[in-house]
Amino acid sequence: MCYAIPGKIIKISGRLATLDYFGELRQALCDFIQVRPGDYVYAQGGLVVDKVPPKEAAATLKFWRTRFFDLKKTDAKLALINLSNRAGSNLLAVLQKINLNRPLTNNDCLAVLKANKAPEIKLIGQTANHLRQKVLGNACCVHGILEFSNYCHNNCGYCGIGKNCSVKRYRLTVSEICRLAGVAVKKHGFKALVLQSGEDLWYSEAKLLQLIKHLKKLGVLIFLSLGERDKHLYQKLYRAGARAALLRFETSNEKIYSQLKPDSSLTKRLTLIKSLKNMGYLLATGFILGLPGETSQDIINNLLLTKSLGPDMYSFGPLIPAPNTLLSNNHLTDQSLAIKIIALARFIDRPAKILLTTAMETLSKNLKTEGLLSGANSLMINLTPPQLKQCYAIYPRQISNLATAQQIKKTVALLYRLGRAPLDLGY
Ligand code: 5AD
Repeated sequence: MCYAIPGKIIKISGRLATLDYFGELRQALCDFIQVRPGDYVYAQGGLVVDKVPPKEAAATLKFWRTRFFDLKKTDAKLALINLSNRAGSNLLAVLQKINLNRPLTNNDCLAVLKANKAPEIKLIGQTANHLRQKVLGNACCVHGILEFSNYCHNNCGYCGIGKNCSVKRYRLTVSEICRLAGVAVKKHGFKALVLQSGEDLWYSEAKLLQLIKHLKKLGVLIFLSLGERDKHLYQKLYRAGARAALLRFETSNEKIYSQLKPDSSLTKRLTLIKSLKNMGYLLATGFILGLPGETSQDIINNLLLTKSLGPDMYSFGPLIPAPNTLLSNNHLTDQSLAIKIIALARFIDRPAKILLTTAMETLSKNLKTEGLLSGANSLMINLTPPQLKQCYAIYPRQISNLATAQQIKKTVALLYRLGRAPLDLGY
């Protein structure tokens, strides 16, 4: 499998390993499996997840050696800022601050959000892309996501699989999930798997523990996206081998939150998100963009709140109105706003991992490419079985009929075009 590059451990100090990727050094935690200097490993999200037999590592590295440096050149070329894009002096001053590594004020962030002319948006995106390239190089993660159940006991105002929504329900058994995960890892080479579901209590502690213990053996970063489950359950799942959790706070605006999630509370959700981080989980968090009543200040607050949670990955995306929900008639977020938010996330958190989410891809066909060229550096490939994908209707989305191998091929082709290499972004 050729979209993850193995790194060679050149040093371990404490729990931190230094990995060498063709002379580029990155750090990764090594508390998941036993490793030694000299080992070749795969790292994901800054965590060493699997050891690679030297022969296999040599073959993969041979495949990547020239490509890696070619990709870097392509990326450097695409990350140049085209100064013929004109912008008002106010915005130019903000972008100059970013280039000089000066912190942005709230007004600076508002100036970015206010920009509305096409050349200004272009310039904002290019500045973010330039910054991403300068700070993180051309690394880009590709994770797999498996949506294993669309049952949910909540009824969030935005979500198309809430308990009152009429959608054909499905649940995969633990052994079905294990089988699909096995194929994803062994056949397709995924090194990180997001396991996502509605808040479905059918998956008891015993079932989830059984699942994680099995998946741990695969040598893969197990990313949980199970919603607001009990803190102690998350603790046990961590001990069993889960190492990353995706839980968005959805909005930092308490009023909007309570309108859309009347049975829950923002404070409670944030407490859980913070606990996940404290337990040691790699944390992916963020918000929905474009909820009704949201102001530019709310958007900035959303980004700042995400940053304050110390995310290992930013995950945010536009609201895609889902039928039969409270927000079914809501308007769609403007594509240029989506670009500006990705860029702004990069500006306020320079070394961030920023996921180009499926909702972004759904908003507009070219947002995947545009988002990656505006500061994003992480992607997901959907591994849900084709016959179930359309039932996981949190929002209406275009269902790709492509088999996993084809989806990978397409993604790799995109990464090649953009000069991105699948090495870990580091700890
Ligand atoms: N549009 C965009 N994102 C949505 N989510 C749920 N419903 C929608 C929608 N209609 C997001 C929420 C949730 C994640 C799994 O999906 O942020 O946390």
